[in-house]
Amino acid sequence: MRKPIIAGNWKMHKTVSEAIELCESLDRAVQDLEIDVVVCPPFTALSAVCALGMSKVKIGAQNVSIAEGGAYTGEISPLMLVDVCCSYVIIGHSERRQHFGETDAMVNQKVHLALKHGLHPIVCVGESLAQRKAGETETVVVSQTKAAFAGVAREQVPEVVIAYEPIWAIGTGETASAEDANQVIGTIRKTIAQIFDQEVADQIRIQYGGSVKPDNIQELMAQPEIDGALVGGASLDLKGFTAIVHYQTQ
Ligand code: PGA
Repeated sequence: MRKPIIAGNWKMHKTVSEAIELCESLDRAVQDLEIDVVVCPPFTALSAVCALGMSKVKIGAQNVSIAEGGAYTGEISPLMLVDVCCSYVIIGHSERRQHFGETDAMVNQKVHLALKHGLHPIVCVGESLAQRKAGETETVVVSQTKAAFAGVAREQVPEVVIAYEPIWAIGTGETASAEDANQVIGTIRKTIAQIFDQEVADQIRIQYGGSVKPDNIQELMAQPEIDGALVGGASLDLKGFTAIVHYQTQ
C-alpha cells in the first residue's frame, strides 16, 4: 500500500510571517492524518518554518541547484536545504522548464544530487496543450520520466515522488478528468516498471497536479493510480488546503 502524499507548492507567494502563520495552523489541523503532508514555501521562509519544529507537516523546497556549492550566484545547494529541515524538493516544475530553461538533463542531475543528500525529489512531468492536442501526451511523459531516472539506482526509486502535471491544467481552473489523469499516471508507472521492475513501480508514489481543489480532490484520490496531489493555488489558503488533505473525511 502506497501512503498518500499531498504537497503544497506555494510558488512565489508569502512573506516569512505569513508562512509561519499558515504552517502553525496547518500543523495543528493535520495531526490526525495518516497521509504525508508537505509544504513547499519560498526559500526565504524555509528557515523560519524549520524553526517551528512542526511535528506532522514536512518541508520541501521548490528547486535545488545542480551543484553542491561554489560559484553559482543565486543558487541554493541541497546541503543548504537539508540544513533548513527540508526533506522534499520539487524538481523540474513546468514553470522552471518554461521560464528558466530547465532541461531533462538538468532535472536528472538535480534528482541525483537530491538523492545523494537524502532529499526526496518530487519530479514534475507533463505535457503542454499543443502536445496534448497533437496526441503526444504519453510520449512526452514517458520521455521526461526516462530522462529524470537515468542512472538512478533501483533502491532509490521509492524515495522519489513523481507529479504528473499537465501544463494546461496548472493555475487555469481546468483539470484533467480523474480517469484521464489516472491513465497517464498508469503509463508513468509502467515506464518505471520497464526501466526498473514492477516491484519498485508498485512502490513509487505518483501525484496529480493542476487546479486541484477541495471539490475535485476526492474524485482524483479515488483513482487507483493516483497517490496524492501537488497543489498550487489552493495550498495558499489554510481552509482550502486543510479541506484537501482531509479528503477522506470531507
Ligand atoms: P495549481 O498549481 O494547483 O495552482 O494549478 C499546481 C502546480 O503548479 O504545482
